[in-house]
Amino acid sequence: KRIAVVMGGPSAEREVSLNTGKAILTALQESGYKGAVGIDLDPARFVEQLTKEKIEIVFNAIHGQYGEDGVLQGALELLGIPYTGSGVLASAMAMDKGISKRIFLSASIPTPRSLLFTKADLSRDLVTEIIAGFSIPVVVKSSSQGSSIGVVIVEESENLSQAIEQAFQYSDTILVEEFIKGRELTVAILGNNDLKALPVIEIVPFSGRYDYHSKYTKGTTEYIVPARLSEETTFLVQKVALEAFHALRCSGIARVDIMLDEDDNPYVLEVNTIPGMTGTSLVPKAAAAAGISFSALCEELLCLVET
Ligand code: DAL
Ligand code: MG
Repeated sequence: KRIAVVMGGPSAEREVSLNTGKAILTALQESGYKGAVGIDLDPARFVEQLTKEKIEIVFNAIHGQYGEDGVLQGALELLGIPYTGSGVLASAMAMDKGISKRIFLSASIPTPRSLLFTKADLSRDLVTEIIAGFSIPVVVKSSSQGSSIGVVIVEESENLSQAIEQAFQYSDTILVEEFIKGRELTVAILGNNDLKALPVIEIVPFSGRYDYHSKYTKGTTEYIVPARLSEETTFLVQKVALEAFHALRCSGIARVDIMLDEDDNPYVLEVNTIPGMTGTSLVPKAAAAAGISFSALCEELLCLVET
């Protein structure tokens, strides 16, 4: 089969995606998928490239805009080319943290309390509204970015308006979220109908902040797999992750990011439908802990493609 690993593209996570895509392409080629090629997404030329290369399956490795938000999925549906991972609706819902929140709330999935603002709300005094509803620190984030781009943990109220402005640089809607003090966890979910939760990863960034630098610079974060949790808490964390995956109608793979408060209550932050597969990324670590090699994981994602 002619497989295209589609990577790169114009999003703010372009570099991360190129690393994800290259790792996947190398793994597929080493497993004997001789027909696998890499394509750097250029929206203007994409359809032509797929046609020219006679692509039969797309392995989607684009983080963020176009690849993770349902746009690429919609184009591939039109072209009749099957692709890895979630479909149009799940991708679009999961990419938007505000919409995801509403789905979580309606499905009784615990998630930090939040307020959603659009640019039209800027005519109001947002800082006063936020201080009235939350105690500082709060987390201000763009509603549709990845890799912590546009995310600020605000510890002094005088820094709120700058954080709001910064988050709005990345999207037209932003989220202000209660800060959950505790541990940072992530759970990868694999499957379409028969879902499997991989071992929970606990993330311990040495700087105290799991930001872009701590995510992609070797040696800046400790990853503990399986996380140091009781059996009961592990079960609970995996359960909410499965529920979040299911509620957003994901398929194939997704990584569910979770905060665990000091009383071991989990809060789902978001679901990543194109999780990073770089050298420092989380999903490959969780898979390894479950005895699944990186190449076996990539093959599994191809097997899960819905045709
Ligand atoms: N958005 C990055 C790639 C991740 O979730 O791993
Ligand atoms: Mg994300």
